[in-house]
Amino acid sequence: MSELSVTLAGVELGSPLVAAAGAAGSGPELLEVVPRGTFGAITTKSITPECRDGHPPWRLIELPTGMLNAVGLANPGLDAFMTEVVPSLDPNGPVFIGSMAGHSIDDYVTVASAFDSVDSLPLVEANMSCPNTGTGRQFTDDPMAMREAVSAIKSQLKQTPLLVKVPLEMTPGYPIAMAAIEGGADALTMINTVPAMSIDVDTRRPRLSNGSGGLSGPAIHQLAVRMVAGVRACFDEGQCPSILGLGGVTRWSDAAELILAGASAVGLATALFADPRLAVRVGRGLERWVRRQGVSGVSELIGAVHDEPTIPG
Ligand SMILES: Cc1cc2nc3c(=O)[nH]c(=O)nc-3n(C[C@H](O)[C@H](O)[C@H](O)COP(=O)(O)O)c2cc1C
Repeated sequence: MSELSVTLAGVELGSPLVAAAGAAGSGPELLEVVPRGTFGAITTKSITPECRDGHPPWRLIELPTGMLNAVGLANPGLDAFMTEVVPSLDPNGPVFIGSMAGHSIDDYVTVASAFDSVDSLPLVEANMSCPNTGTGRQFTDDPMAMREAVSAIKSQLKQTPLLVKVPLEMTPGYPIAMAAIEGGADALTMINTVPAMSIDVDTRRPRLSNGSGGLSGPAIHQLAVRMVAGVRACFDEGQCPSILGLGGVTRWSDAAELILAGASAVGLATALFADPRLAVRVGRGLERWVRRQGVSGVSELIGAVHDEPTIPG
């Protein structure tokens, strides 16, 4: 095991860095531009049973502090993904995380069952919190709906650990994240993009065709750090399920913050659009940090922030 090895939901990753859903095309394309070993895992685009074109332009806007998107879950659909992408996933490369989405619990169940039938997706992630579709919000607004949906998805998974992607929460006790755990999530992925809006002041129209979208990048980083630390603080020592933390990581120190807050692995999305190789620099910075901290591996630093009792759980 290298000093950057970590375990996420029981699966060993050679690096804590994860290419987040939406940042890596269907998945394997990213390996053409970054050296092997950079990412411990690559998350696929969220796959729905049917092919989706997503929302019409404009659906991506660059902002001074990140990005606003309303892509609307554009993806090739489950059949095309299983026949065209899955056979190309290299079992000797990074772990591939199969991301799933849908309009209904049945949609998630269909995708979960297909993903569970293949060995090349050792982890799956249910995107239960897309701010750009009505169905994403149905689970994030209601803990009971979240618990039921996660439990239905989990029942399809005979061999694959389940990550559930939850939204930013400000409510004490993090009811949506807790409902996902009660439903059977093996790990939490947090945070998804944050609902946001931009208006063209000349036309007086929203700049995104969908009206509003999801904010990502540096603007949401500190919100993600706080939520990861807060969720972790809700659990007794050693009881918190593993967390894939993400939101606004552009530097090694952003990744280190999420790890100290309690993330076992750290995702990158927006930053990879500008420069996929930035992940190489983040990985090197983490290696140097681990040595400076005088520990034998990054896993010793997970949740190792001091003053934890002051973090609101
Ligand atoms: C253009 C774009 C597309 C995305 N598509 C997905 C997706 O298909 N599924 C998903 O779970 N998250 C998706 N996300 C959310 C990211 O995975 C991530 O949670 C969010 O962007 C925060 O991380 P970041 O600040 O590093 O971008 C997308 C984000 C962006 C910017």
